[in-house]
Amino acid sequence: MITTLVVGWGEMGNIALSTTFGSGLKDEEYAEYHILRKKASTMDELQLEKFQSLIRTNFSKYKKFTVLSVGSGEGDFDRDFIKSIASRIDRYVCIEPLKEHLGPLKANLLKVLSEDQIEIHQTTAEDFYTDRKFDIIHNVHVLHWIKNPVGFLKKLESYLSKGGLNITVLQSESGMPRLYSKLKPTSKGSLTAEKLLLGMRKEGITHYRIDYVPSELDVTSIANRQVKGKKILEFVISAKLTNAQFFQAVPLVLELAEIRKNKTVISEPFAFVVNERKPFNWYLYKQSLAEIFGKLVNLPFWIPDRSTF
Ligand SMILES: C[S@@+](CC[C@H](N)C(=O)[O-])C[C@H]1O[C@@H](n2cnc3c(N)ncnc32)[C@H](O)[C@@H]1O
Repeated sequence: MITTLVVGWGEMGNIALSTTFGSGLKDEEYAEYHILRKKASTMDELQLEKFQSLIRTNFSKYKKFTVLSVGSGEGDFDRDFIKSIASRIDRYVCIEPLKEHLGPLKANLLKVLSEDQIEIHQTTAEDFYTDRKFDIIHNVHVLHWIKNPVGFLKKLESYLSKGGLNITVLQSESGMPRLYSKLKPTSKGSLTAEKLLLGMRKEGITHYRIDYVPSELDVTSIANRQVKGKKILEFVISAKLTNAQFFQAVPLVLELAEIRKNKTVISEPFAFVVNERKPFNWYLYKQSLAEIFGKLVNLPFWIPDRSTF
């Protein structure tokens, strides 16, 4: 028999500033549990490597960047990202609505940049407008909070400078959503990279692709029914659990787990949804030159002397 546990999820995507994130977690709980969840996963390290490789393959090594970071949280990722491209940041702009995150965010940015290079806006991404352009725009595990993700990505793209990268990091269907469907089978579930791409294709946006990155979540503390494990699970499913619900959920979590090096882990591959930049292609360039030339010679006033052929 398949057992399922139905927990009360808040409305995904309805952000209520400074009360809860529609998740059933109080803001200070959200901030604390987020740190525990991050520490339990290999995601951060692999994510940073993927960012570095995107930059290597898309920009010259002399390129300097203006960056827009959407939903920066406490800025741990931003700090490491900035460190990894050392002196190449011109300006780093962060959007973060949660008051609890702003102090740590600023402290993190100031570890790697000077005060005049950074800007922090306490607002939701939906309420942020600018006429500036950015070389790199990223939102890392944020888009599932936004009501109209496709429309929002279009808005972000209008802030991209020519040749810029618009990077979204999101869960993939083969990751944590498997857990949601066990605990909340009737729910539509949260946004995944696959759903996002489908939504984009429906709106005729075809120049984005998904790159998958493998990762795993250490659920040993959940398996051992520890308070820390309960917090991690509450963060992952965006819901408060009573102790009884937590104990009921543990075997369902373990159905997805495996033992690796004395740890109980769940595989949680995640996804980068990135706009395809067209690399310079000499062959296509020559072809289009030939086409233009061909059109020119067919103009009515161009009468080539055929006798020479
Ligand atoms: C899971 S955390 C990710 C934080 C950071 N990007 C990271 O990877 O460590 C999600 C962040 O999105 C922020 N957030 C939620 N709704 C948002 C919105 N509508 N606009 C901008 N940020 C939002 C939250 O405050 C939180 O800091």
